[in-house]
Amino acid sequence: MHGGAETMPARAEEPTKRDFLHITTGVAAVGLVGGLAWPLIDQMNPAGDTLALASVEVEYTKVTLGQQIVVKWQGKPLFIRHRTPKEIAEAVADDHADLRDPATDASRHKPGMAEWLIVIGVCTHLGCVPTFGQGEYGGWLCPCHGSVYDTAGRIRKGPAPKNLVLPDYSFEAGGKVKVG
Ligand code: FES
Repeated sequence: MHGGAETMPARAEEPTKRDFLHITTGVAAVGLVGGLAWPLIDQMNPAGDTLALASVEVEYTKVTLGQQIVVKWQGKPLFIRHRTPKEIAEAVADDHADLRDPATDASRHKPGMAEWLIVIGVCTHLGCVPTFGQGEYGGWLCPCHGSVYDTAGRIRKGPAPKNLVLPDYSFEAGGKVKVG
């Protein structure tokens, strides 16, 4: 979805169009409510509280190690990232760094599920979509004004004031995660 995608190595960590389409299909297949209700909800332009109820189920286990997929949820991109041991170790090592929006890595994922980082992919500065695999902290770089997020989605540099937001989600049976 960004210009650099074609130049990424085979272990592409940036969401590609293929990933997006792949998982969109998955959403439609596993989450009929989330998958099919969207166009209708969108069309009806419902009140915010109706919108807030919408949820999606995603087969997260299809996301391979080191890969990230992007799912549209409530009109926003949702990053589902399968973190490598290196990414996790780097995030934990910086738990007590001088963080602008202090949070431990453990507080950014479900207990025992450090491999899975699920964040709303919207920069907390002015709402652009950050790109993974860029920026000096191994996480995301926002192309708009240069905010840099680490591998836990914590803001490390640039104008954004807050970490990437964590949505409400739960892991369900059958290798699915339900968001919202
Ligand atoms: Fe991301 Fe400004 S919107 S840095």
